[in-house]
Amino acid sequence: MITTIITDDIASYAAQLIGEQLRAKPKSVLGLATGSTPISVYDRLIEMVQCDTLSFKNVVTFNLDEYHPIQAEDPQSYMSFMREHLFDHIDIDKMNIHIPNGMVPAEDVADFAIQYEKAIGDAGGIDLQVLGIGSNGHIAFNEPPSEFDSRTRYVSLTDQTIADNARFFERREDVPIHAITMGIGTILAARRILMLATGPTKAMAIKNAIEGSVSTACPASALQLHRAVTVVIDANAAALLMPVTAVLEADETNLGIQDEHHIWW
Ligand code: F6R
Repeated sequence: MITTIITDDIASYAAQLIGEQLRAKPKSVLGLATGSTPISVYDRLIEMVQCDTLSFKNVVTFNLDEYHPIQAEDPQSYMSFMREHLFDHIDIDKMNIHIPNGMVPAEDVADFAIQYEKAIGDAGGIDLQVLGIGSNGHIAFNEPPSEFDSRTRYVSLTDQTIADNARFFERREDVPIHAITMGIGTILAARRILMLATGPTKAMAIKNAIEGSVSTACPASALQLHRAVTVVIDANAAALLMPVTAVLEADETNLGIQDEHHIWW
């Protein structure tokens, strides 16, 4: 089931939801995303930790992905991103942080990926997975047409993703073209999923993910197969969704809209 929340303050909503998870289960296993979208959410979580209303002391984290090859210390690595935007400002035990190793030799990536999956399993599985969404519908770096049972692996990034990521780099040729990413199957195994999106460039991907057919052409549409997904988006990202009345009418006339799709404005 997908519950869609449309709000102009995704940070407060998402941080509240993550906070509830950590208070209910202090040893939660969190799946985390990088990218511009979760930054304001991480800011809010940092505030909560600094005000002593939240603790990551016993939390275990697994990040979705990392560029390859890239040194952890490289300012463009997702490790650096996570340190800058979250880990260096909260009370997390550094031993509990897991991010795919961007320097694992190419011939060892398959073994590394198996170990990453095993580490998630050994930690008890992901309780809450935070996701962004690419303008092409990717989740983590599962580009179209990634299989829904895919697991952690080495991937090539699409031209669209490379173009989207170029804003973080001085020169387009510096943008990494490969990554290690959790698979869609890895993501779907999380007990609960929180997907975030803002801005008009995400509107079509959000429409395809929530209302489109379940297809590898839109990797995020796999979320329709999961039983506990909350999508938190702003009005721009929601712009192409059907109005709630259309959803209700379609349900009544049995036009094939999933009746478990709830939408809240
Ligand atoms: C990041 C990740 C990507 C991003 C997506 C959206 O770890 O896995 O799927 O979530 O590319 O990125 P932003 O938020 O920068 O638009």
